Amino acid sequence: MNTGTNSVAIVTGASQGIGRATAIRLAKDFSAVVLVARNRDKLEDTANEVKAAGAQALVIYLNLSDIDAADIIVARTLEKFGRIDALLNIAGDVPQIDLFETSDAQWDAGMALKFHGARRLTLCAWEALKASHGSVVLTSGNSAVVPKAPYAAVGVINAAIMALAKAFSDRGIADGVQVNSVQPGPVMTGRRSAYLEKWALAHNVTVEEAMAKFLSNAEISRYGTPEEIADLLAYLVLPPARWMTGTSIRMDGGEVKAI
Ligand SMILES: NC(=O)c1ccc[n+]([C@@H]2O[C@H](COP(=O)([O-])OP(=O)(O)OC[C@H]3O[C@@H](n4cnc5c(N)ncnc54)[C@H](OP(=O)(O)O)[C@@H]3O)[C@@H](O)[C@H]2O)c1
Repeated sequence: MNTGTNSVAIVTGASQGIGRATAIRLAKDFSAVVLVARNRDKLEDTANEVKAAGAQALVIYLNLSDIDAADIIVARTLEKFGRIDALLNIAGDVPQIDLFETSDAQWDAGMALKFHGARRLTLCAWEALKASHGSVVLTSGNSAVVPKAPYAAVGVINAAIMALAKAFSDRGIADGVQVNSVQPGPVMTGRRSAYLEKWALAHNVTVEEAMAKFLSNAEISRYGTPEEIADLLAYLVLPPARWMTGTSIRMDGGEVKAI
């Protein structure tokens, strides 16, 4: 594993939320950060923050659901920097719709981005990660262990992500690649606030009331911040966590009550 003067991290979902915070956090420890999402302007904004923190930035704007996205990301990263030390699969946009209302197309769209997008990118980057003894993180969520009917696809796909990370870590033991997944609880990002706004409208309450109701239902004292999850993700790809592999780490303010 290499971090420092010649070390490269790829971060998907870097245009906003947890991905953006993670890219900026990694700029402290990696010499270059590759920023992936669809929104070019927002990625350029993240790139400015990454550069201000002292690292080089490469913006790649594309749709991760596209079949050739992974090849493009890996090819452009290797062309510019010649190596990949860490891959942080954070992009996700699984529809938050009731189990009985989610269409086949919505299930497929959720899988295409969050599961297959991360799977293909990890496969494509594997040889470079083997060469660098690198690290991979996949992003799951608490719904993986407590699936709920009102947003069933999120839970099912997050559970699949945890299993996928475990399978990659199995191969990674022989290949020298460290692979883990993270399980954030409720973190206040654009995705979270969009869900709460929708919920408030459906239940005829204010967004503030929806936010408070959600916290009390979850029995937690506050929402997490993207920066808190970013610090956890950074820890997982830095040398102190090197012996940790095949694990899913939860950070959720105590939302999951089971062991
Ligand atoms: N926030 C939470 O409470 C929470 C809890 C548990 C797990 N998570 C997981 O954490 C991850 C990040 O969540 P977040 O809350 O930070 O979400 P967010 O603010 O909505 O950010 C999602 C990111 O994914 C990118 N993205 C979406 N569709 C894409 C596509 N087709 N191709 C490429 N990039 C795409 C978005 O960028 P563009 O729109 O620019 O493409 C954005 O950068 C997700 O996987 C989510 O499931 C979040």
